[in-house]
Amino acid sequence: MSENLIEIKNLKKIYTDESSFLTIKKEPHLVLNNINLNIKKGEIVSLAGESGCGKTTLANCILKVIEPNSGEILFNGENILNFNKKQTFDYRKKIQMIFQNPYSSLNPKMKIKETLLEPLQIHKIFKSKKENLARVYEIIDLVKISKDDLKKYPHEFSGGQRQRIAIARALILKPDFIVADEPVSALDVSICANIINLLLDLKEKLNLTMLFISHDLNLLRYLSDKIAIMNKGEIVEFGDCEEIFNNPKDDYTKFLLGSIRTIKTDF
Ligand SMILES: Nc1ncnc2c1ncn2[C@@H]1O[C@H](COP(=O)(O)OP(=O)(O)OP(=O)(O)O)[C@@H](O)[C@H]1O
Ligand SMILES: [Mg+2]
Repeated sequence: MSENLIEIKNLKKIYTDESSFLTIKKEPHLVLNNINLNIKKGEIVSLAGESGCGKTTLANCILKVIEPNSGEILFNGENILNFNKKQTFDYRKKIQMIFQNPYSSLNPKMKIKETLLEPLQIHKIFKSKKENLARVYEIIDLVKISKDDLKKYPHEFSGGQRQRIAIARALILKPDFIVADEPVSALDVSICANIINLLLDLKEKLNLTMLFISHDLNLLRYLSDKIAIMNKGEIVEFGDCEEIFNNPKDDYTKFLLGSIRTIKTDF
């Protein structure tokens, strides 16, 4: 039996909306309401729910990009919200992100080789340049990028290839946990299948643990071990993926899954 890598307990996030011109009154807006979620080592857990329900906010809390108002996020049993600077720096090495737009994790002015070397240098993973380079070759082999591509800049690739490079960068530090927020929604269907199969292949090879966010329910069913259904800042149902697809219990889950019958995709 595998243990929990991530345990989220009673997490709350309230945004105070300051965007309106017409009023100076700040409206508190409850975006995450008492979230509880466990992710075991080696599992792909997906988050599904309509736009604005809080998926990215939850991911950002786990990534320590934003602070929740209350609750706990345990990583290997330790509350990341109590981490000091040094612990946060070490934590950031262990968790990595794959974004919808790979451009956001690739510096357009850096060649792919520099892009892949950079995290190894920042975190001083190896003592020699030779070891750093060996790791770069190892990772490009895994994500199927050629050595010639290392000399190129991000704009010289297609969207799918760029996402492979972003995945290579996310994996180069051998993270324990990956958050993928809509990583294939900007790609063509055939390229999307390609990237998803790459992620599944990497999951097997590297025993990756992943939180995967997508609107595509057929895709989530294809790839996830477990699925969490979110509605208006709450997780309304969480459990084994096939179990939920075959036998949804919550009304909102039934409504959401009902929409797959009308929208067909390739997964
Ligand atoms: N920085 C912010 N300040 C105020 N409100 C915010 C902020 N970021 C997000 N929100 C609000 O929080 C809610 C949840 O947003 P979030 O981005 O987490 O949704 P999401 O489920 O990821 O949506 P999508 O599927 O469209 O990506 C929305 O109502 C959004 O307007
Ligand atoms: Mg989002």
